[in-house]
Amino acid sequence: MFYGLSKFLKKFLPKQLFYRSLLIVALPVIILQLTISIVFFDSLWIKTNIGMTRALVGEIKTFIDSYNRESADKNFIELTFEEHLGINVVYHYDKEILDTMNEKWYSPIDRSLRRELKEKKLNYWFDTSKFKQTVNLKIQNKNDYFEFFIPRERLTSTSVRIFALWITLPAILIITIAIIFLKNQTRPIKKLAEASKRFGRGEKIEEFVPSGASEIRQAGYEFEKMRKRILRHLNQRSEMLSGISHDLRTPLTRMKLQLALIKDKNLIERFSSDIDEMEKMLNEYLQFSSESNKENTEEFEFNELIREIILKFNNGFIKFNSGEKFNFNGRKLSISRCLNNLIENSTKFANKIEISFQKLKSNILIILEDDGPGIPIQERENVFKPFYKIDKSRSEKSSSVGLGLSISSDIIRSHGGKIELSESKYGGLKVVISLPF
Ligand SMILES: Nc1ncnc2c1ncn2[C@@H]1O[C@H](COP(=O)(O)OP(=O)(O)OP(=O)(O)O)[C@@H](O)[C@H]1O
Ligand SMILES: [Mg+2]
Repeated sequence: MFYGLSKFLKKFLPKQLFYRSLLIVALPVIILQLTISIVFFDSLWIKTNIGMTRALVGEIKTFIDSYNRESADKNFIELTFEEHLGINVVYHYDKEILDTMNEKWYSPIDRSLRRELKEKKLNYWFDTSKFKQTVNLKIQNKNDYFEFFIPRERLTSTSVRIFALWITLPAILIITIAIIFLKNQTRPIKKLAEASKRFGRGEKIEEFVPSGASEIRQAGYEFEKMRKRILRHLNQRSEMLSGISHDLRTPLTRMKLQLALIKDKNLIERFSSDIDEMEKMLNEYLQFSSESNKENTEEFEFNELIREIILKFNNGFIKFNSGEKFNFNGRKLSISRCLNNLIENSTKFANKIEISFQKLKSNILIILEDDGPGIPIQERENVFKPFYKIDKSRSEKSSSVGLGLSISSDIIRSHGGKIELSESKYGGLKVVISLPF
């Protein structure tokens, strides 16, 4: 049951930390103010009003009863009433009250006045809103009637507005202070999330300066330490590999020179083709590691980049389904190298190639399909390994190294994305690249 309730509440509660914290602060304040207001309004204000009205109606009844006595000094009564109670009386001789009452059920003053007048069995008419400071009351007396002009403060205490002001002002003040404080508390968390996101996407970020409460600061320090460790690790790896590649070139050149000393022509041919292949591998790797290390992220329009790459292939069989214009922030050269590798693979094996670009909610998709032989399921993981070629006979016709897909997946992963292989609707290979933005 509680699970259902919490699920229901979650749907309506705000998702962001700032608004949640604000709710935690503001809700008790609002509830407290509301309770105080209701208690005050009901027990104090309404009860005071009722008491005051009852006293006033009593006075008016006394006035009418004394006025109606045979021996009464009517003038004296009117004067005393006016002087000591502040109520003006006009006597309308031989007249009936013809006005119709404008009933205001929502006004507490009207309600208590009506109740008290009815209790004293008086035939009445009143208007509490015609004058600002005065209440107009008429009471029928046999064939004539009295018209009273009563100061409003005799019926109600006016402190309600001041009370409302005093109760809402501090509440507004507390909530404003809470907003300022909470904004300052959530900003460092947002900053950390943004930095992590950018780092995950392979962007170069400057040193992260932690700020905010100690726990958030701690998370920031740890993030910065982790970022440096990862960078160091990455640099170490690529420096080591490019060092090895570089060092291997010297003995390779030596071997090339030594070839000239061999007399067997057949042997020379086989050796030299092997040496050429090794040289190509090394060059390819060195080029990749030097490029990817140096490049900075930049903003570019993705559809246009794809179109440029396709144009370079000068192949009428490549179809492009462009999507909506989208400015992507990434390493442009690396990405174009990745797409280049994939299209190059397809042109090697297939005649028909289709490329599509799609923008989704938080990532973009680049889908490449061809009608070649495809890659069997059991090989789909292996082809991403460096220097892996499915079988010699496939790629023998064109000289290949086996680095294309592994470099491509490295580039995509360094942008925080994914690359997946499956079967195309044309029977060949389908490559789906997803990049977050
Ligand atoms: N579109 C494709 N259709 C069928 N097989 C493919 C396709 N793309 C790649 N392959 C297979 O996957 C293997 C690995 O591809 P990868 O691009 O990594 O290397 P390569 O093309 O052989 O060499 P390189 O790209 O370094 O010159 C290839 O040898 C090929 O057999
Ligand atoms: Mg290739």
